[in-house]
Amino acid sequence: MCGIVGYIGSRQAPNVVLHGLKQLEYRGYDSAGVAVIEQNGHIALRRDAGKLSNLESLLISSPLKGHIGIGHTRWATHGEPNARNAHPHMSMDGRVVVVHNGIVENFLELREELEDEGVKFSSDTDTEVIVQLVERHLGGGVDLETAVRQTLKLLKGASAVVVMNIDHPDELICARLGNAGGITIGLGNDEIFIASDIPAILEYTRRMIFLENRQMARLTRNDVQLSDLNGQAIAPEVHTISWDPVSAAKGEFKHFMQKEIFEQPRALIDTLGGRADFENGRVNLPEMNLTPELVQNLRKIFIIACGTSYYSGLVGKYLIESIARVPVEVEYASEFRYYNPIINSNTAVLAITQSGETADTLAACEQATAQGAHLWSIVNAFGSQSMRISDGYIPMQAGPEIGVASTKAFTNSIMDLYLLACALGELRGTISPQQLRQLVEDTARIPDLAGQVLDRDQEYEELANLFFKANDFLYLGRGINYPIALEGALKLKEISYIHAEGYPAGEMKHGPIALIDTSMPVVAIATKDSLYEKMISQIQQAKARGGVVIALATEGDQTILREADHVIYVPKTPPYLAPIINVLPLQLLSYHIAVRRGADVDQPRNLAKSVTVE
Ligand code: AGP
Repeated sequence: MCGIVGYIGSRQAPNVVLHGLKQLEYRGYDSAGVAVIEQNGHIALRRDAGKLSNLESLLISSPLKGHIGIGHTRWATHGEPNARNAHPHMSMDGRVVVVHNGIVENFLELREELEDEGVKFSSDTDTEVIVQLVERHLGGGVDLETAVRQTLKLLKGASAVVVMNIDHPDELICARLGNAGGITIGLGNDEIFIASDIPAILEYTRRMIFLENRQMARLTRNDVQLSDLNGQAIAPEVHTISWDPVSAAKGEFKHFMQKEIFEQPRALIDTLGGRADFENGRVNLPEMNLTPELVQNLRKIFIIACGTSYYSGLVGKYLIESIARVPVEVEYASEFRYYNPIINSNTAVLAITQSGETADTLAACEQATAQGAHLWSIVNAFGSQSMRISDGYIPMQAGPEIGVASTKAFTNSIMDLYLLACALGELRGTISPQQLRQLVEDTARIPDLAGQVLDRDQEYEELANLFFKANDFLYLGRGINYPIALEGALKLKEISYIHAEGYPAGEMKHGPIALIDTSMPVVAIATKDSLYEKMISQIQQAKARGGVVIALATEGDQTILREADHVIYVPKTPPYLAPIINVLPLQLLSYHIAVRRGADVDQPRNLAKSVTVE
């Protein structure tokens, strides 16, 4: 949810930056900052934790003046949410500042390398390695653009950056690696704007350039020089934005659902923020209020939820039982209330709810509390009822989810369940410190892997064009991917109105196989894991009945090409985190089928975003 704003022109930069950050306020953040190059040629910095109003007050009591500046609202990824970790971050010599969205996956090794060269770090963030590297490369006598380009080539993971340097007082360098959020360049009259999202600068200009993956730009107040990471010049494509405020919130997307699907890499970064402690190989879940005594006495966890949230709960069962070895029972909230569940003081009830206001889920929570259970929640809407009544909670930090069909909340809740499983496993001693460190490190690559899958959107659209007229779909998955088959079917049902069923693949021969024919596409999740061979035989069973099979497979798998009619490849992913990656093509397949059918994607008939009635 981090926000970026930059400016060069005749206005006062601090005013433009602060105003722009306010337009991004809905993203949520825990600290903010702004930097300008002042008339005296020095860089001045103001940063504070908490609300943007704290920064605003700081700027009133200690004003900044300058016509070039950058600013940032941060949702902590590495390092506590406080002033010293807030962006912009400054190089040791005070001549360079940077603002950054994303995760530098290899920041630990880069930090050690820089410290060996005598660099003294002033924060706990991964971002600071970027600004210290730029200083190092500037020391080689190159210009700012080259120094930034050399730095970017050393970074692993998805990042969006803006860099300012007093030795180049009339320019800003911005760049985008992967899908950690966009960089939009706004073209004014003898002034230029940068933002992570259009609404931050839309009132100043409607002429925008969008940086693509692995592109960078050198900006002055009246010039944009676009290039790739090899320095190859690129002709910028200028778009004229004609949106009203609501559609401005959609950015360059047609629907909120589409925007939210593509926001998932950034949302995943945000939900890892402040929790995945890559430096110490641990997980921090401060709002859960977990104590060793509480966790070691746990005998059972009920996960209760509805719809898509229920399906993430099914993934959570695999994660918590495998990693923390606590028995988990997943129940529809609307059922949980009426079958008199066995609950005692060693039971925890975990509600998963995007809105935090779903009536069935809230009613089940109240019953759980009345029966003496510990009540936890994983919730996206900050301050919602579910969060308020819980003994401990994990904010999904996915940002507002407007589309009725849940997407980024689903993948973020799976990541949060994974983090919870790790934290429970550590407290129960079911995983070693080394295993825990590996589990934490495995999360760092997920946002970038998700971005890679989303970059193949064209493939899913082409598939949708082949199958949008189907009347029935069958989705098959096994093990940790069985819930993804259920979720893929639900996504299709609720936005395209095509009947679709998700099934555990092993169950197909016990009934659904009677449905198989050439008119019913079968989506089979057959990525490489311990059940791969079983999935191949299920695909063969479907094919033997004339079924048309669309297989989700792991990149490099050639066998699947002989078995399935269509193959969607996804990158190899650590098995526990595979559901987050595997659901993405299914979200986009459903989206494109619904669009092809002319359905109302964001507000499907009969549905509501939050079902606050029973
Ligand atoms: C998901 O796409 C649906 N919109 C619906 O199933 C939803 O997940 C369910 O109503 C639960 O909502 P919640 O997560 O806000 O509790």
